Amino acid sequence: MTHVLPLFEQGRHLLSVSQFDRSNLGTIFEVADAVDLIAKRQGVCTVLDGAMLGSLFFEPSTRTRLSFESAFLRLGGEVTTTTGFTFSSMAKGESIADTARVVSGYSDVLVVRHPEAGSVAEFARHSTVPVVNAGDGAGEHPSQALLDVYTLQKELHQRGKTVDRCHIAILGDLKFGRTVHSLIKLMSLYESITFTVFAPTGLELPLDVEQYAQQRGHRLQVAPNVVEAVRGADAIYATRVQRERMTAELAQSAARGDLLNRAILTQASNEDAIIMHPLPRDSRPDSYDLSSDVDELSGLAIFHQTDNGLNIRMAIFLTALGVTVEAVRLTTKQRPWKATLRS
Ligand code: ASP
Ligand code: CP
Repeated sequence: MTHVLPLFEQGRHLLSVSQFDRSNLGTIFEVADAVDLIAKRQGVCTVLDGAMLGSLFFEPSTRTRLSFESAFLRLGGEVTTTTGFTFSSMAKGESIADTARVVSGYSDVLVVRHPEAGSVAEFARHSTVPVVNAGDGAGEHPSQALLDVYTLQKELHQRGKTVDRCHIAILGDLKFGRTVHSLIKLMSLYESITFTVFAPTGLELPLDVEQYAQQRGHRLQVAPNVVEAVRGADAIYATRVQRERMTAELAQSAARGDLLNRAILTQASNEDAIIMHPLPRDSRPDSYDLSSDVDELSGLAIFHQTDNGLNIRMAIFLTALGVTVEAVRLTTKQRPWKATLRS
């Protein structure tokens, strides 16, 4: 994105993490904390009564789509949704511009995922309501970075540490992984971060993202292997090889096996590290990803990330639609039912 975007606030699109400074980032996190009882379904809220979300996902998604939609529903709004090109009139050649104009007439806010970088910004240019970028190709995934940093802050806090001055190892497909691009940029708002990165050959971090962190005074070092990358890190952020974004040839030659597993952590004497991943974790036999043998480790935070996604996505809607925490409080009551798991 070449032009400068305004800070994210009421009535604005959310297209990039560059729309945050420490102040509005802190506000989003405060709102995310304030809606925790609603996220945990202990409170029932109607603050978005009468509001409509248009949810448009032109790429596969499980957690981003379902958590954005759940977040809107839990705040009392309603949701219309379309998934894939096949079931939208884009399959009949309708442009992004026309699609955006049409669906913004039906909605109060739109959440859009699309396989091309810059496409969600194009969508926003033709929308009459705020648009939230739910992932645009290898570009950005701002709501993911927000929930990642929100989670990281909480996990570090439990260990008496802060995001300022933390050491994070970032592993995997750093070239096509949009979550990594957004995460490094958002963390660059903090002080004195050490980023240690490791990527298989051909999937290295783009130079502009590396320079973004370095120009803001952070240390970014490239490790020769995964053991060295994770040694001494407070947190480890592993990612999947984005096979759908590369040529068949590159996908074919991409590494296979465990990107990170328990034995690697033991070798690096770092079994207590916070372990993060945007998910999905690729469990197919020819994948190169985080092994499930780390799932019993105390630092595993991957499902804290997914749970926290609800809070963050509620906070995004409340901000975009100009709803105060006080209005949320006044429209929330205790749930009258209990969810019980029968054995
Ligand atoms: N789910 C994340 C994304 O859509 C990460 C991934 O797919 O690997 O970017
Ligand atoms: N993390 C993430 O974006 O997951 P989905 O692709 O399943 O939405």
